[in-house]
Amino acid sequence: MTSDDKPTLVRADAIMLRQVVLNLVNNALDAVVEQSGGVEIRTRLERGAIGPGRVIVTVRDTGRGIPAEHLPHVFELFFTTKEAGRGVGLGLAVCQSLIEQHGGTIRVESPGVGQGTTVEFELPAES
Ligand SMILES: Nc1ncnc2c1ncn2[C@@H]1O[C@H](COP(=O)(O)OP(=O)(O)OP(=O)(O)O)[C@@H](O)[C@H]1O
Ligand SMILES: [Mg+2]
Repeated sequence: MTSDDKPTLVRADAIMLRQVVLNLVNNALDAVVEQSGGVEIRTRLERGAIGPGRVIVTVRDTGRGIPAEHLPHVFELFFTTKEAGRGVGLGLAVCQSLIEQHGGTIRVESPGVGQGTTVEFELPAES
């Protein structure tokens, strides 16, 4: 929802959106399991000067965070820091591919180890 309480609408394949959100929430939950922490999901509409603007979805966790040297690699196929059987390293690569196919972008930010992670993706809004 936006501050003016209008729903934020995107035109996207429902299966793909579910896949993206599930991957991001799974990562966030994995990041908070060893320590107490939280996961927050927000959506907002950013209006552009022209057109209906962009819908921005943020998945933020207060978990283990990502070391700076890993950040450039997180979207690579098969990049994982999880033990065998727990992670394959496909989640973010698939998210990026799906989001870009829908005209969107995705980014990952973390101040560092132990300091949580924020993943934000944006898609063109539907007027
Ligand atoms: N929220 C997060 N907190 C900490 N590290 C993260 C987070 N999201 C992603 N990462 C890091 O990025 C790596 C790649 O994530 P990705 O989702 O692509 O693969 P995975 O979770 O390891 O395996 P899969 O998603 O295929 O089960 C993770 O192994 C982890 O090191
Ligand atoms: Mg994952």
